[in-house]
Amino acid sequence: MDNRRMTMMAFEEIVAEIRRFAASADDLASLQRFSVDLIAERLPHYNWVGFYMLDPDDENVLVLGPFHGAATEHVRIPVSEGICGAAVAQGETVIVDDVSADPRYLACSIETKSEIVVPITAAGKIVGEIDIDSHDLSAFGAGDRVFLEECALIFGEFIEEHSR
Ligand code: SME
Repeated sequence: MDNRRMTMMAFEEIVAEIRRFAASADDLASLQRFSVDLIAERLPHYNWVGFYMLDPDDENVLVLGPFHGAATEHVRIPVSEGICGAAVAQGETVIVDDVSADPRYLACSIETKSEIVVPITAAGKIVGEIDIDSHDLSAFGAGDRVFLEECALIFGEFIEEHSR
């Protein structure tokens, strides 16, 4: 089986496992913890996997949530800054093939080469996002977008059904 097909199968399995966990998770934090660990373990080129959620007290600021990977100094990111802010401001997934060529990029690790940020929507409003960094250039394509947008739908539905 080629790598692409193996990755597509891994995407499907991860979505199924997150969906199963979400069905009985007590709170958003435990679902997020489970998901970042699962995604990072199954997809080794996803070198940093984390959540940024909009601060309920200041919806112009993203706050770092559960993550898997190196510690980052970017604990609070204004929506006017970074690739993370851009995904909220544009209201859509942002893929950056080469972060060194993007002036919006806020560096977390000197090893990061590419990034994807996928908004999470609940009750029609963006409430946060999934952020993934890779040490490979152009690591994220259409398949990754579909996969992560499917994960984002599960998180959004969970938030709609549970208090944050
Ligand atoms: N690179 C992000 C900042 C968060 S770190 O990747 C964990 C950005 O440009 O917004």
